[in-house]
Amino acid sequence: MLVSGREILQKAHKEGYAVGAFNTNNLESTKAMIQAAEEERSPIIIQTSQSAISYAGLEEISMIVRLLAEKASIPVALHLDHGTDWDVVMQCLRHGWTSVMFDGSKYAFDENIAITKQIVDIAHPMGVSVEAELGKIGGVEDHIVVDEKDATMTDPAEAEEFVKKTGVDYLAIAIGTAHGVYKGVPKLDFERIDEIKKRIQIPVVLHGASGISIEDIQKAVSLGVNKINIDTELRQAFQEATHKVVKETPDLYDPRKMLAPTTEAMKAIVKGKMRAFGSSGRA
Ligand code: G3H
Ligand code: ZN
Repeated sequence: MLVSGREILQKAHKEGYAVGAFNTNNLESTKAMIQAAEEERSPIIIQTSQSAISYAGLEEISMIVRLLAEKASIPVALHLDHGTDWDVVMQCLRHGWTSVMFDGSKYAFDENIAITKQIVDIAHPMGVSVEAELGKIGGVEDHIVVDEKDATMTDPAEAEEFVKKTGVDYLAIAIGTAHGVYKGVPKLDFERIDEIKKRIQIPVVLHGASGISIEDIQKAVSLGVNKINIDTELRQAFQEATHKVVKETPDLYDPRKMLAPTTEAMKAIVKGKMRAFGSSGRA
């Protein structure tokens, strides 16, 4: 069933586990995610970046995810990931997204508060939950490009003021993760998560979680992370499976047969994350 992001994450917050938010671009990825969630009996957040919306079409991707979600027996939220454009956020509200992220990390603190608050005021009466970002997460995620030197950690005192003034449902925090493929071993600032969670009583969100060890993920969850975003590892699974198909069956030209192993590979990633995040068996 299609539900709000808040409904999924409030339960996770209360019971102390995290729910994966997986980036989709098309029918195959969405099917892989929902099948994985059904098999794991896990809630799931399926998210679209602005680039995914441009690629698939706003109405098209909305219909695909919402139709599959309505048919599913587990809770599914449709989330806008890193919404930086006011117009895209508004269109998602009109077209059935049940959760939107406004990424105002490029703005000064007060401006980020002002725009986020306006979005919360519009989204909440529609039953749509809102995620915001404070601090700046490094790396590359579709149209979000933040150089390592420009990445900034979330300040716990600012997080408290931000949540109080905006009324957001969950907050993306910068604690040392980065989008894309890590060059070295990522070092997470666990104390910062703890400090932030002492000051805010809402779920916090970990971005750039592909490539983070299971130990670090579980420590972050034990400190209060309730939403974990995964994109790069799904892309890598797709890439690896595609290369294998082309290499091993060069004469195959049926797209359905060629895409079957890629769907299975993405499904395996999603199931593994659900177990690691503690959301399996929670639906
Ligand atoms: O917003 C999406 C993510 O934060 C995904 O990060 O590509 O490192 O998994 P990732
Ligand atoms: Zn992100």
